[in-house]
Amino acid sequence: MVNPKNSIALLLLVGMVSGLNAGTMKSDAVYAKMCSLCHGKQGQGNPNVPDAPALNSQSKEDLVIKLSDIKGKNFDNAHAKMENNQKIIEMRGMKYNVHEMAEYIHKNFNKEK
Ligand code: HEC
Repeated sequence: MVNPKNSIALLLLVGMVSGLNAGTMKSDAVYAKMCSLCHGKQGQGNPNVPDAPALNSQSKEDLVIKLSDIKGKNFDNAHAKMENNQKIIEMRGMKYNVHEMAEYIHKNFNKEK
C-alpha cells in the first residue's frame, strides 16, 4: 500500500520540477522576441536604441560574466538599465539560461570567432 504522505510529497516534487522547466525558454526564441529589439537581429546593435551595445563582437566569456551580473549576481553595478529590462523580460515569463544565451549569441552572431 502506498503511504498517502509519500504520494503528496512526490506530487509536489513533480510539480516543482515541471514548473522550473516551463519557466525556461530556448535562447533563440527569447533573443528573437526580446533582445533583438534593442541589440539588433544579429546582435549588431540598433541605431534607434544607441545606448544598447552591439553583442556580436563580444567573447562568450564576456557575455557569460555580463549576463550573470545582469541577472543579479552583482559582480559590479555597470548594468542598471539592463538589469531593469531583465526583470521585465522575466515577468513576461521569458527566463533563459545564461550559458545557453551566451553560446547562442556567440555562435550565431560573432564574426571573429
Ligand atoms: C529595452 C531594450 C533592451 C532589451 C529588450 C534588452 N537589452 Fe540588453 N541592454 C540594453 C541597454 C540599454 C544596455 C546598456 C546599459 C546597461 O547595461 O545597463 C544593455 C546591455 C546588455 C549587455 C551588456 C553589454 C555590455 O557590453 O556591457 C548584455 C550582455 C545584454 N544587454 C544582453 C541582452 C539580452 C541577452 C537580452 C534579451 C534577453 C537583452 N539584452 C535585452 C537594452 C536592452
